[in-house]
Amino acid sequence: MNDNMQLFEPIKIGNVNLENRIVRSATFEGMCDQQGFPTEKYFNLYRDLSKNNIGAIITGFAYISSCGRAMHPGQAGIDEDAKISYYKRVCHKVHENGSKIFMQIAHSGRQTMPQAVGGVVKGVSQKKSPYFQSAPTQMSADEVKILIGRFAEAAKRCQESGFDGVQLHAAHGYLIHQFLLPSINDRKDEFGIDRQSRIGTLFLKLIIREIRAKCGQDFPILIKISASDDYATTFTQNHFVQLVRFLDEMRVDAIEISYGTMDCALNIFRGESVPLDTILELNPRYRTRNIFRRFLTKRIIYPVAKHRFKKFTPAYNLHWAQMAKRFTKIPIVCVGGFRKMEDMTAAIENQNTDIVSICRPFICEPDLIHKIKMNESYQAKCLNCNMCAVMCDSGRSTRCYFGHYKLGE
Ligand SMILES: Cc1cc2nc3c(=O)[nH]c(=O)nc-3n(C[C@H](O)[C@H](O)[C@H](O)COP(=O)(O)O)c2cc1C
Repeated sequence: MNDNMQLFEPIKIGNVNLENRIVRSATFEGMCDQQGFPTEKYFNLYRDLSKNNIGAIITGFAYISSCGRAMHPGQAGIDEDAKISYYKRVCHKVHENGSKIFMQIAHSGRQTMPQAVGGVVKGVSQKKSPYFQSAPTQMSADEVKILIGRFAEAAKRCQESGFDGVQLHAAHGYLIHQFLLPSINDRKDEFGIDRQSRIGTLFLKLIIREIRAKCGQDFPILIKISASDDYATTFTQNHFVQLVRFLDEMRVDAIEISYGTMDCALNIFRGESVPLDTILELNPRYRTRNIFRRFLTKRIIYPVAKHRFKKFTPAYNLHWAQMAKRFTKIPIVCVGGFRKMEDMTAAIENQNTDIVSICRPFICEPDLIHKIKMNESYQAKCLNCNMCAVMCDSGRSTRCYFGHYKLGE
């Protein structure tokens, strides 16, 4: 047993005590009904995860308003009070099992499709996402202010449900991230890019303030950010540092460091193989039965696009976490590519991050912590094949396609 290692020492996020420094990163569940109410599968998923000594669990992204739904079917909603009693049951069970749970709350902005939001896709600007291709209408300043209220109301519902805190999804190109990015935010009003920091922080600042006003100073606010938007010229290392400094000033309770936007999703969750046939079968943007289009995608579009994909390497966002730690004392959570105990231990002991965060391996091995505790050289079974990620578009619940484990069953 390795109980004396720093990795297995407790740490605090705000006033919440985590029994160790491993968290389960937000993972879309696909286990809610069409109105975003959690089903029994969702309950079972968190019941099972919470039996496994994970320091804290972060839920998949839940929409704060139906106008911010993602295109994946089965997404959770935290947009109405009627859902509170359902989440109460989940939180109660997680706490009964001795674990902690934070809800990730989000608005998709331009990263969705009209059919998911029941009409017009709205974003920070009129700029289209190269992947989603839905021409967004720019939100007016009044609409932006309404959404700030919606984020705070959603956080209040999380508090009433018994979640230990919320995580604001300000990464992966979703709405808060869209405001931050100079490549997308071309607004001329107060919600545009700040002169000094060169990123658009007002939306996020007002959301944090409003959540504090509604939920109190002690209700933890975590935040997930992307270190880069994949365009090194428009969001530089300097912008990243400005963002960390801003969050330091805002005194958020933890900062999770991720990477990228959904425009190149395979740089968020990296892997060696791309399940192209499944994408052509299921993905709402690319699915096609047309033999010519399939041929074109496989032989021309994909080989060109592939050059943008970053390689999977162990702990692939760690250098960004290390950089963030130079500018803040707020706990830094690093996600991406943690598969072995030695990488996790080294990251913590070298003080490159305070907490490690894991997504895909927990999909196939919810009991991963027990395994690495018993065997220091244990290597997670996850192959980074990304079938779990691609299948988020399928309408089926998230699971591992190599049959290791079926979540929520
Ligand atoms: C199936 C799947 C669902 C995901 N859902 C979310 C999500 O809801 N919110 C989020 O911030 N990230 C989400 N992610 C990204 C992960 O949280 C994480 O940042 C990424 O997978 C890298 O970590 P890993 O190498 O441990 O998998 C998802 C990833 C996968 C594979």
